[in-house]
Amino acid sequence: MFRKICGVPHVLTDQESLSDHSHDYTEDLRFPPEVVLKPGSAKEISSILKYCNEKKIPVTPRGAGTGLSGGALPVFAGVVLSTVRLNRIIRIDERNLQAVAEPGVINQEFQDAVIEKGLFYPPDPASRGSCFLGGNLAECAGGPRAVKYGVTKDYVLNCEVVLPNGEIIWTGANVLKNSTGYNLTQLIIGSEGTLGVITKIVFRLIPLPTENLLMLVPFFDARKACEAVSAIFRAGITPSGLEFMERECIEYVMKYVDVKIPLKEGIKAHLLIEVDGNDRDVLMKECEKISDILQNFDCDEVLFADTAQRKAELWKARRAAGEAVKSHSIYKEEDTVVPRAELPVLLEGVKQIGKKYGFKSVCYGHAGDGNLHVNIIRENLSEEDWNEKVPRGIREIFELCVKLGGTISGEHGIGFVQKKYLDIAFTPVQIDVMKGIKKVFDPNGILNPGKIFS
Ligand code: LAC
Ligand code: ZN
Repeated sequence: MFRKICGVPHVLTDQESLSDHSHDYTEDLRFPPEVVLKPGSAKEISSILKYCNEKKIPVTPRGAGTGLSGGALPVFAGVVLSTVRLNRIIRIDERNLQAVAEPGVINQEFQDAVIEKGLFYPPDPASRGSCFLGGNLAECAGGPRAVKYGVTKDYVLNCEVVLPNGEIIWTGANVLKNSTGYNLTQLIIGSEGTLGVITKIVFRLIPLPTENLLMLVPFFDARKACEAVSAIFRAGITPSGLEFMERECIEYVMKYVDVKIPLKEGIKAHLLIEVDGNDRDVLMKECEKISDILQNFDCDEVLFADTAQRKAELWKARRAAGEAVKSHSIYKEEDTVVPRAELPVLLEGVKQIGKKYGFKSVCYGHAGDGNLHVNIIRENLSEEDWNEKVPRGIREIFELCVKLGGTISGEHGIGFVQKKYLDIAFTPVQIDVMKGIKKVFDPNGILNPGKIFS
């Protein structure tokens, strides 16, 4: 049947393909599917879902497989439905500052295509060189620029979605304002492939800023670095990037990519701060103001990236953080997020909890968003400590997030690995409402089963 729908070359059952689609970027988890399908159109996806819905076959949608919460893991085997062939940018509408693209377009390729027209699509997850737009929608991906420009959801106006029963719908309209009925577009975004398969996306774009300045600031105290973050915003400046990296994170990065960052003795953390706009003088003034503020937080000399190459290097270093840590050891990546000014309390809490449960963490992330990636390193932890003690510590970290007014994922999603903690973020009543929504879309539970909740 699948061969008839997709064509023989696009139905894969060989060991290598099954193995390639058994994992994403989440820890070292592996769940081989029974078959990998690479449909070429919404219509084919519709036929696949209709068939699987009738036969009650689990279907796991998959983009580039760069997810960090296990959203693309086929935990009940069945079908992996890859969007890799839906890879066209259909239209860039310069009159309306909109673009229409398919889900299998690589984030960076989309950004580059709109830059050609002087336009800007800000969402830039660390994996932007390989991740797909569809996956970005599914997880509501963020990235460093979110602090000024917002996350994926802020750029999607409308999408075409295939429902589990095979029906194809549009979720909204191609407009900047819309108060017509329930907001299905925003319901689909962040639904982690559990409600439907996205087959076309209408994006809003903005004009491309022409200038940016980047500085790297070393701190003698990691807590102080975190405290400095909210002071910058309180002074009336919204940076286009405000990233935090612990010393150890930079040490791992320098072993992993060829970028040199001076690391004086006693330096505990760095902030990477970018401002952007169209007027260089204004940006210079903003940087001066930021430097002045930072002097109150025990920082060392501010290092300006004075060439385009140095800027690219520093961003490359920051973007490599996750993979650099992973190359050192298997880790659990926690995507904690709190109101920005609570970041110092969160960081300190993470370290205390780590001590209590005997694990090491390397932290970095989007400090301007209060979004701290806590990488818990496995190193020599025993099977028992890794599987039992560490999750107890993670639970405590998440409880702290919620106590501080935050939640348990800012941009990676719940997927497979965080669902056991969902009760920390939501009451049973809230979870029941969500399960009710799932039932309306997918009464047979065939689409990405075993994700978000059980
Ligand atoms: C990052 C990914 C892990 O910020 O979200 O590097
Ligand atoms: Zn991130």
